[in-house]
Amino acid sequence: MKWLALGLALVAPSEAGLRFGCATLSVQRLDPLVEPGQVPSGHVHQIVGGNYFNATMDPSIDVGEKGTCTTCSFSEDFSNYWTAVLYFKRRDGMYKRVPQYANAQLEGATKGMTIYYTQLDFNGNGNEKITSFKPGFRMTVGSPLTNSKEQATKNVGLRYTCLQTILTRGAETPDFPKAPCPAGIMAIHHFPACWDGKNLDSPNHQDHMFDTTKGGFRVAGPCPSTHPVRMPQVAYETMWNTTQFNDKSMWPTDGSQPFVWSTGDGKGYGTHGDYLFGWKGDSLQRAMDSTCMFSACGAKTGVLKTQSAAAQNSCAVKNTVVEDIGEDDWIPALPGVH
Ligand SMILES: *[C@@H]1O[C@H](CO)[C@@H](O)[C@H](O)[C@H]1NC(C)=O
Ligand SMILES: *[C@@H]1O[C@H](CO)[C@@H](O)[C@H](O)[C@H]1NC(C)=O
Repeated sequence: MKWLALGLALVAPSEAGLRFGCATLSVQRLDPLVEPGQVPSGHVHQIVGGNYFNATMDPSIDVGEKGTCTTCSFSEDFSNYWTAVLYFKRRDGMYKRVPQYANAQLEGATKGMTIYYTQLDFNGNGNEKITSFKPGFRMTVGSPLTNSKEQATKNVGLRYTCLQTILTRGAETPDFPKAPCPAGIMAIHHFPACWDGKNLDSPNHQDHMFDTTKGGFRVAGPCPSTHPVRMPQVAYETMWNTTQFNDKSMWPTDGSQPFVWSTGDGKGYGTHGDYLFGWKGDSLQRAMDSTCMFSACGAKTGVLKTQSAAAQNSCAVKNTVVEDIGEDDWIPALPGVH
Protein backbone atom coordinates (compact mmCIF):
# COMPACT_ATOMS: atom_id res chain seq x y z
CA MET A 1 0.00 0.00 0.00
CA LYS A 2 2.90 2.30 0.59
CA TRP A 3 3.55 2.85 -3.13
CA LEU A 4 -0.11 3.75 -3.61
CA ALA A 5 -0.05 6.47 -0.97
CA LEU A 6 3.18 7.78 -2.43
CA GLY A 7 1.77 7.76 -5.94
CA LEU A 8 -1.27 9.69 -4.83
CA ALA A 9 0.88 12.20 -3.03
CA LEU A 10 2.77 12.81 -6.26
CA VAL A 11 -0.25 13.38 -8.49
CA ALA A 12 -2.62 15.11 -6.06
CA PRO A 13 -2.27 18.87 -6.04
CA SER A 14 -0.78 19.94 -2.76
CA GLU A 15 -2.54 21.45 0.17
CA ALA A 16 -1.16 24.79 1.20
CA GLY A 17 -2.72 27.60 3.17
CA LEU A 18 -1.66 31.16 3.88
CA ARG A 19 -2.54 33.16 6.97
CA PHE A 20 -0.69 36.41 7.55
CA GLY A 21 -1.00 39.92 8.90
CA CYS A 22 -1.07 43.10 6.82
CA ALA A 23 -0.68 46.37 8.72
CA THR A 24 -2.85 49.40 7.97
CA LEU A 25 -1.71 51.15 4.79
CA SER A 26 -4.23 53.99 4.84
CA VAL A 27 -7.58 55.02 6.28
CA GLN A 28 -9.35 57.36 3.90
CA ARG A 29 -12.23 57.85 1.48
CA LEU A 30 -10.93 56.13 -1.64
CA ASP A 31 -12.34 53.14 -3.53
CA PRO A 32 -10.55 52.38 -6.81
CA LEU A 33 -12.78 49.36 -7.39
CA VAL A 34 -16.36 50.54 -6.85
CA GLU A 35 -15.82 54.30 -7.33
CA PRO A 36 -12.68 54.63 -9.49
CA GLY A 37 -11.37 58.15 -9.84
CA GLN A 38 -13.81 59.54 -7.32
CA VAL A 39 -12.01 61.72 -4.75
CA PRO A 40 -13.39 61.39 -2.14
CA SER A 41 -15.38 58.16 -2.39
CA GLY A 42 -18.65 57.66 -0.52
CA HIS A 43 -17.39 56.33 2.80
CA VAL A 44 -14.20 55.74 4.80
CA HIS A 45 -12.19 52.56 4.24
CA GLN A 46 -9.34 50.85 5.99
CA ILE A 47 -6.89 49.63 3.36
CA VAL A 48 -3.99 47.21 3.83
CA GLY A 49 -1.39 45.84 1.39
CA GLY A 50 0.76 47.35 -1.36
CA ASN A 51 1.57 51.03 -1.76
CA TYR A 52 0.47 51.31 -5.40
CA PHE A 53 -3.02 51.92 -3.96
CA ASN A 54 -4.76 55.07 -5.24
CA ALA A 55 -8.11 56.47 -6.41
CA THR A 56 -7.68 54.87 -9.83
CA MET A 57 -6.09 51.46 -10.41
CA ASP A 58 -6.47 50.44 -14.02
CA PRO A 59 -6.96 46.67 -14.49
CA SER A 60 -4.34 46.68 -17.27
CA ILE A 61 -1.65 47.50 -14.71
CA ASP A 62 0.18 44.69 -12.93
CA VAL A 63 0.16 46.02 -9.37
CA GLY A 64 2.61 43.30 -8.32
CA GLU A 65 5.25 44.93 -10.54
CA LYS A 66 4.42 48.50 -9.49
CA GLY A 67 4.44 48.41 -5.69
CA THR A 68 7.62 49.38 -3.86
CA CYS A 69 6.50 48.41 -0.34
CA THR A 70 3.70 46.44 1.29
CA THR A 71 2.25 46.25 4.80
CA CYS A 72 1.90 42.46 4.47
CA SER A 73 4.38 40.09 6.09
CA PHE A 74 4.86 38.30 2.74
CA SER A 75 6.82 40.92 0.86
CA GLU A 76 5.76 39.78 -2.64
CA ASP A 77 2.13 40.59 -1.88
CA PHE A 78 1.22 44.05 -3.20
CA SER A 79 -2.51 43.24 -3.31
CA ASN A 80 -4.95 45.63 -1.68
CA TYR A 81 -7.54 44.51 0.81
CA TRP A 82 -10.13 46.88 2.27
CA THR A 83 -13.35 47.11 4.25
CA ALA A 84 -15.48 49.87 5.72
CA VAL A 85 -14.36 51.35 9.05
CA LEU A 86 -16.19 50.89 12.34
CA TYR A 87 -17.43 53.94 14.26
CA PHE A 88 -19.00 54.39 17.69
CA LYS A 89 -22.08 56.62 17.85
CA ARG A 90 -22.37 58.20 21.27
CA ARG A 91 -25.67 58.89 23.03
CA ASP A 92 -25.43 62.54 21.97
CA GLY A 93 -25.04 61.60 18.29
CA MET A 94 -21.29 62.30 17.98
CA TYR A 95 -19.03 59.74 16.27
CA LYS A 96 -15.52 58.43 16.90
CA ARG A 97 -13.55 55.92 14.86
CA VAL A 98 -13.06 52.59 16.65
CA PRO A 99 -9.36 51.72 16.88
CA GLN A 100 -8.15 48.44 15.63
CA TYR A 101 -5.58 45.83 16.62
CA ALA A 102 -3.76 42.97 14.93
CA ASN A 103 -4.31 39.21 15.36
CA ALA A 104 -2.68 38.27 18.68
CA GLN A 105 -1.43 34.99 17.18
CA LEU A 106 0.60 36.65 14.43
CA GLU A 107 3.84 38.56 14.73
CA GLY A 108 4.61 41.64 12.71
CA ALA A 109 1.75 44.03 12.01
CA THR A 110 0.65 46.27 14.87
CA LYS A 111 -2.75 46.98 13.26
CA GLY A 112 -4.57 46.00 10.09
CA MET A 113 -6.11 42.74 9.00
CA THR A 114 -5.47 39.02 8.99
CA ILE A 115 -5.56 37.69 5.44
CA TYR A 116 -6.19 34.05 4.47
CA TYR A 117 -5.68 32.24 1.20
CA THR A 118 -6.92 28.74 1.89
CA GLN A 119 -8.09 26.03 -0.50
CA LEU A 120 -11.29 23.98 -0.45
CA ASP A 121 -11.31 24.27 3.33
CA PHE A 122 -8.89 25.33 6.02
CA ASN A 123 -6.07 23.04 4.95
CA GLY A 124 -7.31 20.75 2.17
CA ASN A 125 -8.02 21.15 -1.54
CA GLY A 126 -10.21 18.13 -2.30
CA ASN A 127 -7.64 17.10 -4.94
CA GLU A 128 -8.39 20.18 -7.02
CA LYS A 129 -5.82 22.44 -8.58
CA ILE A 130 -6.04 25.92 -7.05
CA THR A 131 -5.48 28.57 -9.72
CA SER A 132 -4.04 31.93 -8.70
CA PHE A 133 -5.79 35.18 -9.57
CA LYS A 134 -4.27 37.06 -12.52
CA PRO A 135 -2.91 40.63 -12.67
CA GLY A 136 -5.81 43.08 -12.89
CA PHE A 137 -8.19 40.72 -11.05
CA ARG A 138 -10.56 42.30 -8.53
CA MET A 139 -13.81 41.43 -6.71
CA THR A 140 -16.07 42.48 -3.89
CA VAL A 141 -18.13 40.53 -1.39
CA GLY A 142 -21.25 41.79 0.37
CA SER A 143 -22.88 45.15 -0.29
CA PRO A 144 -23.49 48.34 1.66
CA LEU A 145 -27.06 48.12 0.31
CA THR A 146 -27.89 44.88 2.15
CA ASN A 147 -30.40 45.94 4.78
CA SER A 148 -32.31 42.91 6.02
CA LYS A 149 -31.34 40.23 8.48
CA GLU A 150 -32.74 37.59 6.14
CA GLN A 151 -30.45 38.66 3.32
CA ALA A 152 -27.45 39.07 5.65
CA THR A 153 -28.01 35.60 7.11
CA LYS A 154 -27.72 34.10 3.61
CA ASN A 155 -24.26 35.65 3.17
CA VAL A 156 -22.70 32.91 5.28
CA GLY A 157 -19.16 34.19 4.72
CA LEU A 158 -19.91 37.59 6.27
CA ARG A 159 -20.07 37.48 10.05
CA TYR A 160 -19.16 39.09 13.39
CA THR A 161 -17.69 37.57 16.52
CA CYS A 162 -18.16 39.23 19.91
CA LEU A 163 -14.67 38.91 21.38
CA GLN A 164 -14.68 37.84 25.03
CA THR A 165 -10.87 37.76 24.83
CA ILE A 166 -8.47 38.61 22.01
CA LEU A 167 -8.43 34.90 21.12
CA THR A 168 -12.20 34.21 20.97
CA ARG A 169 -13.29 32.46 17.76
CA GLY A 170 -16.62 31.05 16.63
CA ALA A 171 -20.11 32.15 17.82
CA GLU A 172 -20.64 34.17 14.63
CA THR A 173 -23.62 36.45 13.98
CA PRO A 174 -24.83 38.17 10.76
CA ASP A 175 -25.34 41.43 12.64
CA PHE A 176 -23.44 43.51 15.18
CA PRO A 177 -23.34 42.00 18.68
CA LYS A 178 -26.09 43.56 20.83
CA ALA A 179 -24.15 43.86 24.10
CA PRO A 180 -20.65 45.20 24.83
CA CYS A 181 -17.85 42.78 23.82
CA PRO A 182 -14.99 42.86 26.34
CA ALA A 183 -12.16 42.55 23.76
CA GLY A 184 -13.94 44.07 20.77
CA ILE A 185 -15.70 42.92 17.61
CA MET A 186 -14.13 40.79 14.89
CA ALA A 187 -15.49 41.40 11.37
CA ILE A 188 -15.13 38.38 9.06
CA HIS A 189 -15.24 38.44 5.25
CA HIS A 190 -14.98 35.23 3.17
CA PHE A 191 -14.85 35.90 -0.59
CA PRO A 192 -16.20 33.67 -3.35
CA ALA A 193 -13.62 31.28 -4.83
CA CYS A 194 -15.09 29.97 -8.14
CA TRP A 195 -14.11 31.96 -11.23
CA ASP A 196 -15.75 32.10 -14.70
CA GLY A 197 -12.26 31.62 -16.16
CA LYS A 198 -12.55 34.72 -18.36
CA ASN A 199 -13.25 38.03 -16.66
CA LEU A 200 -10.92 39.92 -14.35
CA ASP A 201 -13.91 41.95 -13.13
CA SER A 202 -17.62 42.40 -13.88
CA PRO A 203 -19.92 45.43 -13.75
CA ASN A 204 -21.08 44.67 -10.19
CA HIS A 205 -17.62 43.25 -9.29
CA GLN A 206 -19.26 39.95 -8.27
CA ASP A 207 -20.76 38.15 -11.30
CA HIS A 208 -17.40 36.82 -12.54
CA MET A 209 -17.18 34.86 -9.30
CA PHE A 210 -19.45 32.29 -7.63
CA ASP A 211 -19.66 31.61 -3.94
CA THR A 212 -19.78 28.05 -2.63
CA THR A 213 -18.59 28.99 0.85
CA LYS A 214 -20.43 27.14 3.61
CA GLY A 215 -19.31 29.60 6.26
CA GLY A 216 -16.36 29.55 8.62
CA PHE A 217 -13.57 27.55 7.01
CA ARG A 218 -15.82 24.56 6.31
CA VAL A 219 -15.45 22.51 3.12
CA ALA A 220 -16.87 24.54 0.24
CA GLY A 221 -19.35 23.14 -2.29
CA PRO A 222 -18.19 22.26 -5.85
CA CYS A 223 -17.69 25.04 -8.39
CA PRO A 224 -20.56 25.17 -10.95
CA SER A 225 -19.99 24.78 -14.73
CA THR A 226 -20.52 28.53 -15.23
CA HIS A 227 -17.63 29.28 -12.82
CA PRO A 228 -15.49 26.15 -13.07
CA VAL A 229 -12.09 27.44 -11.93
CA ARG A 230 -11.32 27.06 -8.24
CA MET A 231 -9.23 29.92 -6.94
CA PRO A 232 -7.81 30.55 -3.48
CA GLN A 233 -10.40 31.10 -0.78
CA VAL A 234 -9.63 34.65 0.35
CA ALA A 235 -10.81 35.73 3.79
CA TYR A 236 -10.25 38.75 6.04
CA GLU A 237 -10.50 39.04 9.80
CA THR A 238 -10.44 42.54 11.31
CA MET A 239 -10.31 43.22 15.04
CA TRP A 240 -12.08 46.41 16.15
CA ASN A 241 -11.15 47.41 19.69
CA THR A 242 -14.45 48.61 21.15
CA THR A 243 -13.32 48.47 24.80
CA GLN A 244 -13.09 52.24 25.35
CA PHE A 245 -16.73 52.46 24.24
CA ASN A 246 -18.10 49.64 26.38
CA ASP A 247 -19.35 51.96 29.14
CA LYS A 248 -23.11 51.72 28.72
CA SER A 249 -23.68 55.25 30.00
CA MET A 250 -22.47 56.36 26.52
CA TRP A 251 -24.88 53.99 24.71
CA PRO A 252 -28.28 55.04 23.32
CA THR A 253 -31.05 55.21 25.91
CA ASP A 254 -33.36 52.98 23.82
CA GLY A 255 -31.08 49.98 24.42
CA SER A 256 -29.89 49.68 20.79
CA GLN A 257 -26.23 48.94 20.08
CA PRO A 258 -24.09 51.95 19.09
CA PHE A 259 -21.56 50.65 16.58
CA VAL A 260 -21.98 51.71 12.97
CA TRP A 261 -20.06 51.10 9.76
CA SER A 262 -18.63 54.16 7.99
CA THR A 263 -21.50 53.71 5.49
CA GLY A 264 -24.02 54.60 8.23
CA ASP A 265 -25.16 50.97 8.68
CA GLY A 266 -25.99 50.43 12.36
CA LYS A 267 -27.14 46.81 12.01
CA GLY A 268 -24.08 45.38 10.33
CA TYR A 269 -26.01 43.80 7.46
CA GLY A 270 -24.21 45.97 4.88
CA THR A 271 -20.75 44.62 5.71
CA HIS A 272 -18.59 44.26 2.57
CA GLY A 273 -15.03 43.75 1.48
CA ASP A 274 -12.94 44.62 -1.57
CA TYR A 275 -10.03 42.67 -3.06
CA LEU A 276 -7.56 43.74 -5.72
CA PHE A 277 -4.94 41.13 -6.67
CA GLY A 278 -1.31 42.21 -6.67
CA TRP A 279 1.06 39.31 -5.91
CA LYS A 280 4.35 39.67 -7.73
CA GLY A 281 5.05 37.26 -10.60
CA ASP A 282 4.04 33.66 -9.85
CA SER A 283 4.40 33.98 -6.07
CA LEU A 284 0.79 33.20 -5.14
CA GLN A 285 0.63 30.24 -7.56
CA ARG A 286 3.91 28.99 -6.10
CA ALA A 287 2.43 29.13 -2.61
CA MET A 288 -0.79 27.38 -3.68
CA ASP A 289 1.23 24.61 -5.38
CA SER A 290 3.35 24.02 -2.30
CA THR A 291 2.49 22.16 0.89
CA CYS A 292 3.42 24.89 3.36
CA MET A 293 0.97 26.12 5.97
CA PHE A 294 0.70 29.68 7.27
CA SER A 295 3.96 31.27 8.48
CA ALA A 296 5.90 28.15 7.43
CA CYS A 297 5.45 29.41 3.85
CA GLY A 298 8.04 32.06 4.73
CA ALA A 299 11.61 31.61 5.94
CA LYS A 300 11.09 28.02 7.14
CA THR A 301 10.44 26.63 3.65
CA GLY A 302 11.53 29.54 1.46
CA VAL A 303 8.38 29.29 -0.67
CA LEU A 304 7.61 33.00 -0.16
CA LYS A 305 9.76 35.98 0.77
CA THR A 306 9.05 37.73 4.05
CA GLN A 307 10.03 41.10 5.51
CA SER A 308 10.67 42.56 8.96
CA ALA A 309 7.89 43.92 11.16
CA ALA A 310 9.52 47.34 10.93
CA ALA A 311 9.36 47.31 7.12
CA GLN A 312 5.77 46.11 7.22
CA ASN A 313 4.59 48.76 9.69
CA SER A 314 6.38 51.65 8.02
CA CYS A 315 4.87 51.17 4.54
CA ALA A 316 2.09 53.70 3.94
CA VAL A 317 0.55 55.90 1.25
CA LYS A 318 0.00 59.62 1.53
CA ASN A 319 -3.64 60.57 1.98
CA THR A 320 -5.22 61.82 -1.25
CA VAL A 321 -8.32 62.75 0.73
CA VAL A 322 -7.41 64.92 3.71
CA GLU A 323 -10.26 65.33 6.22
CA ASP A 324 -11.10 64.75 9.86
CA ILE A 325 -12.21 61.13 10.11
CA GLY A 326 -12.80 61.19 13.88
CA GLU A 327 -9.69 59.33 14.91
CA ASP A 328 -8.70 61.38 17.96
CA ASP A 329 -11.75 63.55 18.40
CA TRP A 330 -15.53 63.32 18.15
CA ILE A 331 -17.15 64.36 14.86
CA PRO A 332 -20.81 65.27 14.27
CA ALA A 333 -21.30 63.16 11.11
CA LEU A 334 -19.70 60.21 9.31
CA PRO A 335 -17.46 61.54 6.49
CA GLY A 336 -19.46 61.57 3.24
CA VAL A 337 -22.62 60.18 4.83
CA HIS A 338 -25.60 62.52 5.18
C1 LIG B 1 -3.23 59.50 -6.52
O1 LIG B 1 -4.23 60.05 -7.35
C2 LIG B 1 -4.37 61.44 -7.18
C3 LIG B 1 -5.59 61.92 -7.96
O2 LIG B 1 -6.06 60.98 -8.87
C4 LIG B 1 -3.07 62.14 -7.62
O3 LIG B 1 -3.20 63.52 -7.44
C5 LIG B 1 -1.95 61.60 -6.73
O4 LIG B 1 -0.73 62.12 -7.14
C6 LIG B 1 -1.88 60.10 -6.77
N1 LIG B 1 -0.95 59.68 -5.73
C7 LIG B 1 0.09 58.91 -5.97
C8 LIG B 1 0.92 58.55 -4.81
O5 LIG B 1 0.35 58.51 -7.09
C1 LIG C 1 -7.98 48.05 23.43
O1 LIG C 1 -8.23 49.33 23.94
C2 LIG C 1 -7.98 49.43 25.33
C3 LIG C 1 -8.50 50.81 25.78
O2 LIG C 1 -8.09 51.83 24.96
C4 LIG C 1 -6.51 49.21 25.57
O3 LIG C 1 -6.21 49.32 26.95
C5 LIG C 1 -6.15 47.81 25.09
O4 LIG C 1 -4.77 47.59 25.21
C6 LIG C 1 -6.53 47.63 23.63
N1 LIG C 1 -6.40 46.22 23.28
C7 LIG C 1 -5.59 45.78 22.30
C8 LIG C 1 -5.55 44.31 22.11
O5 LIG C 1 -4.95 46.54 21.61
